[in-house]
Amino acid sequence: MRSELGTPVGLVPATGVLIGAEEREAVDRVLSSGLLAQGAEVATFESEFAAYVHDRPCVAVNSGTSALLLGLLALGIGRGDEVVVPSFSFAATANAVALTGATPVFADIEPRHFCLDPAAVLAALTPRTAAVMPVHLYGHPASAELAAVAERHGLALVEDAAQAHLAALDGRPVGTLGQVAAFSFYPTKNMTCGEGGLVVCADDALARRVRLLRNQGMERRYANEIVGYNARMTDIHAAIGRVQLGRLPAWTRTRRANATFLSAALDDVAADHGLTLPAIAQGAEPVWHQYTLRAPRRDELVATLAGLGVQTGVYYPTPIHRLPAYDLDLDLPVTAAAAREVLSLPVHPALDQDGLERIVAATAQAVAE
Ligand SMILES: Cc1ncc(COP(=O)(O)O)c(C=O)c1O
Repeated sequence: MRSELGTPVGLVPATGVLIGAEEREAVDRVLSSGLLAQGAEVATFESEFAAYVHDRPCVAVNSGTSALLLGLLALGIGRGDEVVVPSFSFAATANAVALTGATPVFADIEPRHFCLDPAAVLAALTPRTAAVMPVHLYGHPASAELAAVAERHGLALVEDAAQAHLAALDGRPVGTLGQVAAFSFYPTKNMTCGEGGLVVCADDALARRVRLLRNQGMERRYANEIVGYNARMTDIHAAIGRVQLGRLPAWTRTRRANATFLSAALDDVAADHGLTLPAIAQGAEPVWHQYTLRAPRRDELVATLAGLGVQTGVYYPTPIHRLPAYDLDLDLPVTAAAAREVLSLPVHPALDQDGLERIVAATAQAVAE
């Protein structure tokens, strides 16, 4: 037997994609209109998203990776430039930099929040550094000091906010902390379009460049001003995104409540068995894309939890600089330890109270074994 989410009954799934009748109706509306490619739905989605990022100009694209790439290109970043990035992230973070022709320079992270360490960023700066690209990993905002470092050194701050829709830092929404920010709407993210991404820009001139890059360099048809991509979002995807965006505030509240429950219920177990539960930095309002803890015998715990019917995720077992695509021999000790020790428990809004309690009971049982 399978549940509504397609997972076997009895299993607590690691992620939960919530698609309902409203999304189906929205897709149907677009299909019936006959206007499927980028159009009015995309424009409306952009303005609805802008309401969450201080009305900064927003440009929707076909993926989070495209959002990062086009944002970097719009800033003029390319060959000869360096961009400081974390190695403890999804490869797309560094890939976007490399695809511009610039060099990703990997810096270490902070141990408690898994985001770029401002001191490591400072140490990585060279005369070629053009930008710093923090990732708000697991939905937790990266340190506010990174924006200060970028500003002091005349560098662009590019936020990889792929996992952090609606997160905030010192009262400011992520996506508004730098010159450019990229969000992802991949199905496992806090909201989805199926596939999709969005660039938030600090000003209209940047947004215009991203729009040109999105559409073959054209603003007017067949009047191509620059060399560009086809990175457009379709109205079908935007229609799904608009419904999901409407639900995002409630889902975010549920993620926060789930995380609060897990942290309270696992506190003693963690203290007794050497687990490190996620921490929240001063001024940070995370959105719990993942609920990630550290466990000294991580792989054993993952296997035992799976045997007890609780799916977990390991994001990310191999630092980007160690992947065959990069294969760099760097010493990033905090990154290396995180890659060995992290696992993420389910925290998504499709969990019910029974699921939450089973996660707690299974974790307590697994560490006691
Ligand atoms: C941190 C991070 N950056 C970038 C991306 C790329 O987003 P997408 O998969 O939409 O291209 C993702 C998600 O996959 C991500 O988790």
